[in-house]
Amino acid sequence: MVLYFTMNKMVVTTTKLDQKTLDKLISGKILVIRVPNFVSDKLCARLSTHFLKHHEIRNYGHEIYVNGKKKVLFYGVKRIGYPFNLTYGKSSNDPIKKEYYVRALDGIRELRKVSAPFPSPIDKLRLELDELWKDGANIARFENKMMLVGMGRVINHEDIQDDESPHVDSLPPKIDLDGRFSGIIYLKVPPVGGELEVWNQFPNLSKKEKENYKFNWREKLVSPTVIRPKAGELVLINTLLPHAVKSFPNGNRVAVQSFIGYKKNKPLQLWS
Ligand SMILES: [Fe+2]
Repeated sequence: MVLYFTMNKMVVTTTKLDQKTLDKLISGKILVIRVPNFVSDKLCARLSTHFLKHHEIRNYGHEIYVNGKKKVLFYGVKRIGYPFNLTYGKSSNDPIKKEYYVRALDGIRELRKVSAPFPSPIDKLRLELDELWKDGANIARFENKMMLVGMGRVINHEDIQDDESPHVDSLPPKIDLDGRFSGIIYLKVPPVGGELEVWNQFPNLSKKEKENYKFNWREKLVSPTVIRPKAGELVLINTLLPHAVKSFPNGNRVAVQSFIGYKKNKPLQLWS
């Protein structure tokens, strides 16, 4: 394993993921893990074209809860794939929930098929985590059904004219995890801008600010750790800490993403 030392001690750049570095992310000793060249240029080009031209590209909603009520916000991210957050608060008979589980395996297989003869980047991530983590890593089955792993995410410059509002990613409270991360595999990045920002603190909000879902946390946060990922790079961050994407004047950002759940003495769980 080769570790690169950067100016920012909260960022570790490595050629290979390992348990020790993941432990540091879990314990909050570091904020970001970067693995450059996780995906070849050829596969990046193929998958980014696949996602940009996909016939089912939809707005990706970010859900927040205001006084216990769900609100869905659009931060400029489009998705290819049917994400778990669409099912939040739905009963097991709800058509949306049924659709999520019906589509999960097709989504995984589609990415595998488009990637062949290369391994799907999401399969590669899952296998590497399974091999390095002492309790292994599996596709999540929060409701005893196999979930989707690997959702395409596209940001077009015209949809993100301002820097994205910092946010944390939510899960229904009944899902019991000790930690939650995002594995983002970048396939295409804009020529300038589009940096990923991660904050090592929660904003100190007044009651009024908490109730105002349009309130921009930036005013309440100190400077973030900022990285500019390259195409082909895998980036892991703790999604319970505020994070955001900076705007960019042209081009688009294409990535494929999986959440990674952590619970002590259990396998890591992956889902989208
Ligand atoms: Fe997020």
